[in-house]
Amino acid sequence: MLSVVCPGSFDPVTNGHVDIIERASKLADQVYIAVMVNQNKHGLFPVERRVELLGESLEHLDNVSIETFSGLLVDYCQAREARAIVKGLRAVGDFDYELQMAQMNHRLTGVDTLFVATNPLYSFLSSSLIKEVVAFGGDIAGLVPAPVLEPLISALRSPERPG
Ligand code: PNS
Repeated sequence: MLSVVCPGSFDPVTNGHVDIIERASKLADQVYIAVMVNQNKHGLFPVERRVELLGESLEHLDNVSIETFSGLLVDYCQAREARAIVKGLRAVGDFDYELQMAQMNHRLTGVDTLFVATNPLYSFLSSSLIKEVVAFGGDIAGLVPAPVLEPLISALRSPERPG
């Protein structure tokens, strides 16, 4: 039985993430989505809401579970007995940092990182770019899962939101 972990901030989940998770779910018996809590980074959505939006976006996959985790990713992998981390690589810009993390994680516990080449349809996508485009009124239909669209627009365009 092969279990893998797909980690990230998922603030919010995009169609690029969904594509990688769908492909991981075909490669592995069990996929754990780890929504990593970063104390130094204040996100748009609380982590619990990110988990809900991931759940609504991944309902069609029956070997995927979603959890939050605070701490080292390698400790989460050990707790779930996951033999590998699965990450998407969009372009060379991702490579340096991803390689550094993969090598550190391997040094820490021996866990391997498997890189999946992002679908070119989504290679320009990131959660931060999506938020910027939405905040200024751009159309992001087709770039985020349907359940994310309205919550994202309301969170970023509400009149109470400062700035
Ligand atoms: O979606 P992101 O923000 O690019 O994901 C980055 C993430 C959460 C996967 C990475 O920051 C991480 O693994 N954080 C957990 C803390 C940790 O293990 N740090 C050491 C990495 S070598």
